[in-house]
Amino acid sequence: MKIAIGCDHGGFDLKQVIVPIVEQAGHTVVDLGCHTNESVDYPDFAALVCAAIGEGRCQRGILICGTGIGMSIAANRYRHIRAAMCHESFTARMSREHNDANVLCLGGRILGSALAQEVVTIWLTTEFAGGRHLRRIKMMG
Ligand code: RB5
Repeated sequence: MKIAIGCDHGGFDLKQVIVPIVEQAGHTVVDLGCHTNESVDYPDFAALVCAAIGEGRCQRGILICGTGIGMSIAANRYRHIRAAMCHESFTARMSREHNDANVLCLGGRILGSALAQEVVTIWLTTEFAGGRHLRRIKMMG
């Protein structure tokens, strides 16, 4: 898959950890910034990642800010996005199985690298279950 990744300054360090994890799992990373620890505005990077998915340039996205909260609020404003903030493995799995989440939001000031690796790996490998869950997703337009 092609995975768009975006972050703000609060997520920059964790992005540096996540990019090689995604690549080692066999995916192509499209890194849409930011590229330093300098203060930036997370909605700008959520917009870039959501556009990459909406235009079909990437299949899924990962957004990282300090808490994951701002990125998930920003990403879920786009109709084609189902963004899930996951900081442990159960919600990472369920966000794919039940919600077909196409964006994963992480908090760079919350997750350590080992847990981030676990969450990202589960999120990338878990398939959507479909069935009644598809019906519910369709209800949201
Ligand atoms: C930036 O300081 C911080 O507010 C941002 O990274 C994020 O946590 C917002 O939800």
